[in-house]
Amino acid sequence: MRTLGVARQAARRAGEVISRYYRDGVEIREKSEGNLVSAADVEAEQAIAEVIRDAFPGHAILGEECHSDPAESEHLWLVDPLDGTTNFAHGIPHFATSIAYYERGVPLCAVIHNPIRGDWFTAVRGEGAIANGRPARVNAHAGVEQTLVASGFFYDRGPLMESTFEVMQEFCRAGAHGIRRFGSAALDLCGVGCGYYGIYFEFQLHPWDFAAGRLFVEEAGGQVTTTTGAPLPIALSSVLATNGALHATATGLTRRYG
Ligand code: IPD
Ligand code: CA
Ligand code: CA
Repeated sequence: MRTLGVARQAARRAGEVISRYYRDGVEIREKSEGNLVSAADVEAEQAIAEVIRDAFPGHAILGEECHSDPAESEHLWLVDPLDGTTNFAHGIPHFATSIAYYERGVPLCAVIHNPIRGDWFTAVRGEGAIANGRPARVNAHAGVEQTLVASGFFYDRGPLMESTFEVMQEFCRAGAHGIRRFGSAALDLCGVGCGYYGIYFEFQLHPWDFAAGRLFVEEAGGQVTTTTGAPLPIALSSVLATNGALHATATGLTRRYG
């Protein structure tokens, strides 16, 4: 698939930019309270857009930093150049470039790349999910008491954060092995697809955060909806990703707050 090759090439270019800034240091500023950004985010997105535009001049790009074509575009690339900027800013090598290609609202291919660890997660609709060259598969946990739960919360320090903590407690009371908050929604979704945890939820994400990871989970055999169980829009949304077997149980706990 040509779009997958282009997405990989774009992610590689972004990875070069990000790795250089990670090594040499870069000034970090606050976009809004707690929401960090740096030249690495912006330059990486520009590098990605250059590769996409060279290959597909007519395609639309919706990116976090500087591309805002309409989400309804027939040929749409969803780009988060650096997902996990807070980790990046604090020197934690857990962040990724996330790129997805959607045609008429349907995700066709996805690439998520952590340039520091050299990790590659890719998915093609109908062809499965691959993590570092090997097929990825969700786990087979059938109950909350057999699994780990991952989550995250936006830069909100109010009701969204409170609801997230409430639901984390509910999962703990239901016997989950633990809660993980790693700081990159794209990599959290890859974690579900790789079977590390059976459930991941977050109450507010932008489409560029989840567009690629969502296809990765689905192609790995999992299920992704909003936290109320509705189909995911290409818009600001809550996200619930599970191994499939746990979806109904998880929705039962997240829907009250979503
Ligand atoms: C953030 C990360 C984080 C999630 C936030 C996102 P950014 O993206 O994915 O894990 O909890 O909701 O906004 O700002 O680092 O690209
Ligand atoms: Ca993000
Ligand atoms: Ca970002």
